[in-house]
Amino acid sequence: MKNIQSDDNFGSPWIVGHRGYRARYPENTLVGFEAAISAGVAMIELDVMLSRDRRIIVIHDSTLDRTTNGFGDVADKTLAELKMLDAGGWFDSRFSGQQVPELSEVLDLIDRRIFVNIELKSTAYEPDHPPDAIEKQVIELLKRKNMLESNLVSSFEAGFLEQIAVMAQPPAIALISDEPASGDVIGMCGSLNLFSWHPNYRVVTEDQVNRMHAVGLKVFPFTVNTRADAIKMLDMGVDGIITDEPELAFNWIHKQ
Ligand code: G3P
Ligand code: CA
Repeated sequence: MKNIQSDDNFGSPWIVGHRGYRARYPENTLVGFEAAISAGVAMIELDVMLSRDRRIIVIHDSTLDRTTNGFGDVADKTLAELKMLDAGGWFDSRFSGQQVPELSEVLDLIDRRIFVNIELKSTAYEPDHPPDAIEKQVIELLKRKNMLESNLVSSFEAGFLEQIAVMAQPPAIALISDEPASGDVIGMCGSLNLFSWHPNYRVVTEDQVNRMHAVGLKVFPFTVNTRADAIKMLDMGVDGIITDEPELAFNWIHKQ
């Protein structure tokens, strides 16, 4: 497995599987991540937050209601309680029995076959940065598994990125944005030596892509789910797209 930050990774645009393979498999599940690998993605994207007993859990919403057969806040449940839930049957009965994964399980499944984009959810941000804050636990886990080079850590919350950037051995880091990046934000991205910017595709312009490239960042817009939007993004010079439809995306990109 190559280092995510090597320049020779970028011969062609990356397809990044959003929450695994969200259009056709239950999001943020092992079956979805494996399907995204089979589809040939360069990287998967997933979402993490902490359980009540401070374990790193892979799930998008702060509540269980939409993507499991449970109810209430993820942060109120222990890992053991979360593991009793079904995280696949809501999507299709074929996937009943899929569990809410821990980040550690997903990293073991991926086993450096592709890159992983770990999104730290803003709801998990703790401004006082306790010793077991999620950003510290994630970096320690990546170190323990010798996976710092094959993972990217991203967030909408700049406070996470500032904390990670000053760690002794930071992994690649990305800022996610729903808004266009101001000059100050672009400057911050460059000075923190971020790897990439992940904007909502609706706010991407060629000028924004060029300005991020000028300070050394790659650009991966989310969530690009149509051929027309994929082509528009590529024409603006992005380095890849984050999509719910990885297999279709290969066709969009390679059969223009
Ligand atoms: O990583 C980009 C994208 O995943 C951010 O939005 O809500 O799908 O986590 P969301
Ligand atoms: Ca996400």
